[in-house]
Amino acid sequence: MKILAVNGSPRGENSNTDRILQPFLEGARGAGAETETIYLRNKKINHCTGCFTCWTKTPGVCIHKDDVPGLLEKVRQADVIVYATPLYIFTVSGLMKDFMDRVIPLLMPHIIKRGGQYIHPMRHQGAWPKKVVLISNCGFPERHHFSGLLETFRCYTSGPDMELSATILCAGGELLKVPELRESIQWYIDASRRAGVEFMESGRILPETQEVLDRSLVDDPEFFCRMANAHWDSAIDRQPGPVAATGDAPAGTLSPALPPPPAGAGKPETFQEAVTGQAAMFNPRAAGSLRADIQFIVTGQEPGEYVLRMAGGRCTAHRGTVPEPALTVHSPSEVWLQIARGELSGQTAFMKGLYRTDGDLGLLLRMSELFSGKNDTAL
Ligand SMILES: Cc1cc2nc3c(=O)[nH]c(=O)nc-3n(C[C@H](O)[C@H](O)[C@H](O)COP(=O)(O)O)c2cc1C
Repeated sequence: MKILAVNGSPRGENSNTDRILQPFLEGARGAGAETETIYLRNKKINHCTGCFTCWTKTPGVCIHKDDVPGLLEKVRQADVIVYATPLYIFTVSGLMKDFMDRVIPLLMPHIIKRGGQYIHPMRHQGAWPKKVVLISNCGFPERHHFSGLLETFRCYTSGPDMELSATILCAGGELLKVPELRESIQWYIDASRRAGVEFMESGRILPETQEVLDRSLVDDPEFFCRMANAHWDSAIDRQPGPVAATGDAPAGTLSPALPPPPAGAGKPETFQEAVTGQAAMFNPRAAGSLRADIQFIVTGQEPGEYVLRMAGGRCTAHRGTVPEPALTVHSPSEVWLQIARGELSGQTAFMKGLYRTDGDLGLLLRMSELFSGKNDTAL
């Protein structure tokens, strides 16, 4: 069985759509399918002009000389077509819509009644695969965003020549591209792969797999929105303009700067080594003009209070507190130590509630680049 997948994301191979599509195709290949993916962003596809020349002056032939005739030939040879598209304003992406509009030459202009409804019949027998699969993802955490898209495809496939055989609609899809979340959302990728196998074996996705694929990637929409907004804040802060945080807090009860770890020191053994090691990993280029204090309120085996102060392209570690930190991290020392030792992802630990923060979450999201140990991050 030949499956032709058409990816309509402008992000192409690096799209969240592709992160769901490719496992589906992998599963199908494992069960004997031959698959091909076409990335529409790499193709020249003009808009349909609505002239109907393809129905009148040159029946079956469009006025445009671009990549579409070649694509339609590939579609003709396939047994299944997968429409894989991000959700754009409750429907397909513009790239996908242009492609979908350009199938008009394959239809006859006349309207006939078939199967209880009026349709344009196909110009040639077998010009289009009967089986249609829809794969999409959207940014918002709620599935109702797909209702318009789904209705479009239900109508699109309601004639006798097509059937909507399977759908995978992933809400909260932007999480698919977060490397730190890869492990925790692997269940969705596995379900998509399983769906590919089931589709080949039974022509549909089995209900238990469908139930998994219908779950949103987002458990807690409130938390998701806070993280998403913090992400946007941190992205906006990187533009030239006002500095991200004041960081002008008075010294308060701050100790003098703690000595950095000796050159060649291994992984930190204590919280103080973790925090001085972090200051040593400061990346001034990533920080730019950032001035901010990060306050640590440490509980657990090594309770204490520490501050990382970033100002003037330098970062120093101190014991003590500041009255107005940009960000406060409340963490057991063991948790932060594990993060500093690279044994636990900071983002995963945060998602699991192993530590909590107050203040500028955008700063938290920037920590891996601010303390990357490099001096070459492009701003
Ligand atoms: C122009 C545009 C319109 C969008 N419209 C919606 C929308 O209506 N609902 C939604 O939940 N997400 C919407 N999004 C978010 C995308 O669906 C989301 O970023 C998705 O993960 C992109 O997938 P991709 O990486 O496969 O392109 C929109 C994004 C863009 C750029």
